[in-house]
Amino acid sequence: MRNTLNFSKAKEIVANALKKYISESISTETSVLNQNKPELIAKSLKVKHLFEKGFKDENDLKNFVCNYLKNTNHLKSSRYMGHQVAVPHDLAGIPDWIHGTINNPSSLYEMGPAGSTLESFMINWMLSKVGWFKGNDLYEFGRLAKNGSGILTHGGSIANLTALSSARAAIAPEAWDKGNPNDLVVMGPSSSHYSISRALSIMGMGKKAFVPVPVDENEKIIISELEKVFTRTKNQGNRVMALIANACATSTGLFDPIDEMANFCRKHKIWFHVDGAHGSVALLSKKHDHKLNGLKKADSLIWDAHKMLRVPSLCTAVLFKDQKKMWKSFQQKGSYVFHEKDVVGMDSMPFTIECTKSALGTKLFWTFAIEGQQALINFVENSFKQAKDLYSFLKNYDGFHCPYVPESNILCFQYKPEIINNQEQLAIRYDLINSGEFYITSCIFRGKRYLRTVLMNPLTDERDFKALARAIEKKGELILKKKTKILQ
Ligand SMILES: Cc1ncc(COP(=O)(O)O)c(C=O)c1O
Repeated sequence: MRNTLNFSKAKEIVANALKKYISESISTETSVLNQNKPELIAKSLKVKHLFEKGFKDENDLKNFVCNYLKNTNHLKSSRYMGHQVAVPHDLAGIPDWIHGTINNPSSLYEMGPAGSTLESFMINWMLSKVGWFKGNDLYEFGRLAKNGSGILTHGGSIANLTALSSARAAIAPEAWDKGNPNDLVVMGPSSSHYSISRALSIMGMGKKAFVPVPVDENEKIIISELEKVFTRTKNQGNRVMALIANACATSTGLFDPIDEMANFCRKHKIWFHVDGAHGSVALLSKKHDHKLNGLKKADSLIWDAHKMLRVPSLCTAVLFKDQKKMWKSFQQKGSYVFHEKDVVGMDSMPFTIECTKSALGTKLFWTFAIEGQQALINFVENSFKQAKDLYSFLKNYDGFHCPYVPESNILCFQYKPEIINNQEQLAIRYDLINSGEFYITSCIFRGKRYLRTVLMNPLTDERDFKALARAIEKKGELILKKKTKILQ
């Protein structure tokens, strides 16, 4: 059968479905997460049929889109407090639509001049926030001597791998051709994100190349341990390729002491990499930028825009203080692309893991263009405040234990930890998300299971905090009742 979908009608169907979805997501009557079994979802979406025959008409499209949206996690609900995935502005998807239509990747300037230009502009802006942009105007796209530089890439894990590849090129440039020397290690807090040790394994250095530095009770690196671990590592005949800092740590949202770590790296001439996937946004706020004091002294930084800059996944920046260091990240040349002297504009391809990459700069720019920069500053400050408010609320609510004052928008807590064990804390989380009331996560912290909230949604307020506490209390008390019954 001939496909009768037309552009305007299809656009209208999708726009109407999304509009309805947004208003339903905002309602507290709607389940935050609707998690059916995959067989059920596939059947209701008529996946096999559509795969073979395609959309027959507008009804097919409408049914599919509506059904698809029913089987989703509603990040736009004020009761979504889950993983560090942006809750985008309602208009944030437009660049994905444009690029889904025109398909201009942005790694080669000639394949997407507008997208590449926006990427360079946003990189200049990010560099200027760190203090690594030395030009007079963010429209300066040429390579400025002594300037920092950076690229956008698909996610923080790839970004960490990119930065570590540059760190290796700095200490052991021969590794690209000959393979790794055996004596390279990377130091970092034991609370470093798993993508760091994963990157080391991918780079052929093995997980063993990660040397954990002890952390305090809040899982922040202990500065006095740095010298000890460094001396021990050196005495074992190893060279430290880089030191990693958490800004902030994934589980807790707490920041490592960046300035002191930077000074340590300066003293020992060690590459300093700041994993700011989540917390780099503190740079936007005069109230919070002190948490990144000393960042300017680092060698590299990663910054996930799809976490706290409200950009739809994925979009991460890898930034370098010294652009020459970035040039060496990947020393391989492809004859069909890397002829930079002849090209107009700038190609990011030589510096990225990806060969083809999405128009990430367009998504990032768009999130600012929707309402202007101040709206994002307000968003960051509000998210950080939401975590503080939740902390104050739970601290005064009977039964809740909050182990630390939040420094970002991430907060961990437990319900009656003296009588509700790790497994039961986790059961509370599953009860909450399976009932559709809330979406929160959990983590292991200080060797114990904690409930974990990440406040990413501007609509979340004290009504949600009250409802969350009451829901957890109810589920916790039910667990305790069952336990007492078993014991009787
Ligand atoms: C500190 C930190 N680094 C890296 C990552 C990995 O980022 P991505 O999920 O974009 O790969 C995360 C993800 O949560 C993170 O919290």
